[in-house]
Amino acid sequence: MKPLGDLEGFRLLPGRLDRPAQEALRDDVWARLKAAPLYIPRMPKSGAPMSVRMTNFGPLGWVTDKDHGYRYEPAHPDTGRPWPDMPAQLLELWDALTGYAAPPEACLVNYYEGGAKMGLHVDADEAAWDAPVLSVSLGDTALFRIGGVLRSDPTRGLRLASGDVCLLGGPARRAFHGIDRILPGTSTLLPKGGRINLTLRRVTVPASPGTPA
Ligand code: SIN
Ligand code: FE2
Repeated sequence: MKPLGDLEGFRLLPGRLDRPAQEALRDDVWARLKAAPLYIPRMPKSGAPMSVRMTNFGPLGWVTDKDHGYRYEPAHPDTGRPWPDMPAQLLELWDALTGYAAPPEACLVNYYEGGAKMGLHVDADEAAWDAPVLSVSLGDTALFRIGGVLRSDPTRGLRLASGDVCLLGGPARRAFHGIDRILPGTSTLLPKGGRINLTLRRVTVPASPGTPA
């Protein structure tokens, strides 16, 4: 548990996945990319391409495009097919670390190569705000930046290395965060280098016990 200044609810678990676990997860991701290829997401309105490539696993996937903006969809935008299932070890990690009563519904896969980065943003397209966001880093180290709930709040940079897991829960669930850049050549996990980030999210509010389905 590592409190981030006064930003409660942020936890960094360095090296939570050992090398064999990272390799197993990498292979699980690889295997699913055939069915759900990485694609270039586009910003709402401008249609400008993002610098990361994306795909998703699980019942819902986070997507963005020029005409319809940020949202969750049950199918891949290019293939029209449902997203592949979530690797079992991610579901286990969610259970072990979040204590949340329902499983995650989306695993966003961000692939960073070369100068790819991600601007400061809040994960805000989910109805289940009470669930933390769980993120796993594989491959080259990233310079991660996290601030407060206002874009103008001071930010702090930290490194996310292969096998690190972080949780944004509580007040930190609404914190601005992003990736400044990737440090090339810092990991041997991915044969061509780069970084994969896997972000697990609960999207819909789970039915409370006793509520008719
Ligand atoms: C994200 O906020 O969606 C990605 C963060 C990361 O790549 O670590
Ligand atoms: Fe995010």
